[in-house]
Amino acid sequence: MVGSRRRVGVLISGRGSNMAALLYASQAPDCPYEIVLVASNVPDAPGLVLAAAEGVPVFARAHTGMKRAEFDAVIDAELERRGAEFVALAGYMRLLSDGFVAKWAGRCLNIHPSLLPAHKGLDVHEAVLAAGETVTGCTVHLVTPALDDGPILGQVRVAVLPGDTAETLADRVHYAEHQLYPRVLADLVSAADSTAAWLERVRSLALALPEAEEKLSHGSPGFFVRGGKFFAYFSRDHHGDGITALLVKASGVEEQAMLIDQDPDLYFRPAYFGPSGWIGIRLDLGDIDWRHVEDWLTRSWRDSAPKRLASLPF
Ligand code: GRF
Repeated sequence: MVGSRRRVGVLISGRGSNMAALLYASQAPDCPYEIVLVASNVPDAPGLVLAAAEGVPVFARAHTGMKRAEFDAVIDAELERRGAEFVALAGYMRLLSDGFVAKWAGRCLNIHPSLLPAHKGLDVHEAVLAAGETVTGCTVHLVTPALDDGPILGQVRVAVLPGDTAETLADRVHYAEHQLYPRVLADLVSAADSTAAWLERVRSLALALPEAEEKLSHGSPGFFVRGGKFFAYFSRDHHGDGITALLVKASGVEEQAMLIDQDPDLYFRPAYFGPSGWIGIRLDLGDIDWRHVEDWLTRSWRDSAPKRLASLPF
């Protein structure tokens, strides 16, 4: 694990037993995540009471009367306020807006009580029994726009017993869910602490900027404005310096010097760039402030983009 623990927000609508499993697993000293928020669209969801009693910040707002994207923006603001880096859906009975899903892509996961792709949607245990299946289970997957459909991160198989009802089956599948979810979440957040994951995140932020494209430049992934200049590089162990960093354009050598003076751990003058305003921002110090990275990318993009683009409001 690099640096501190990854910050996870959990969204629930009901009992919250999976949320509890995630929370109690996070008490292990070697758990790579912590729960920083439990939020719900159902203000009297029992899981909220438990989370609050365990000292976790909770947030509740009924979604009634609100448009989907509008409600998701409220939840998103709360996740941001608590510094969440990942979102775990745990019995969250709301479809998410495309904007929310896109923003949290690769960092939002869900648990479903079947062996996906079998039995998506609701009333899963009834469907398993009606189909006469002898094995069911549970799945943790990444959230994508289609319901219960994203890449599968882990599954546990559960036997269907003779005489099982939807309730007895649901209870047994719950045991399996509680084992599976904390383990998969821990694996996902640990994998995110790697150079490949940082590059993926920088890439998605950089390429979200208008007319931004990527090409390798002296072995480093570089990002440029179509028909224009580079505005960022992702630097990995450049010439064996052992550093992983984002390089962006400051306004000039004065600002470069000022930034390094202000925070000499975070900022550095990149080698081989001559007396230019390029500034290095370390990504390998533990806790990456992604908002800060995004702000720098946007600013650097703006300085490199042709006038017709740079004045776009976004
Ligand atoms: C679980 O069965 C989960 O797979 C599904 O909703 C249920 C939530 O249960 N998505 P709980 O609130 O975690 O007890």
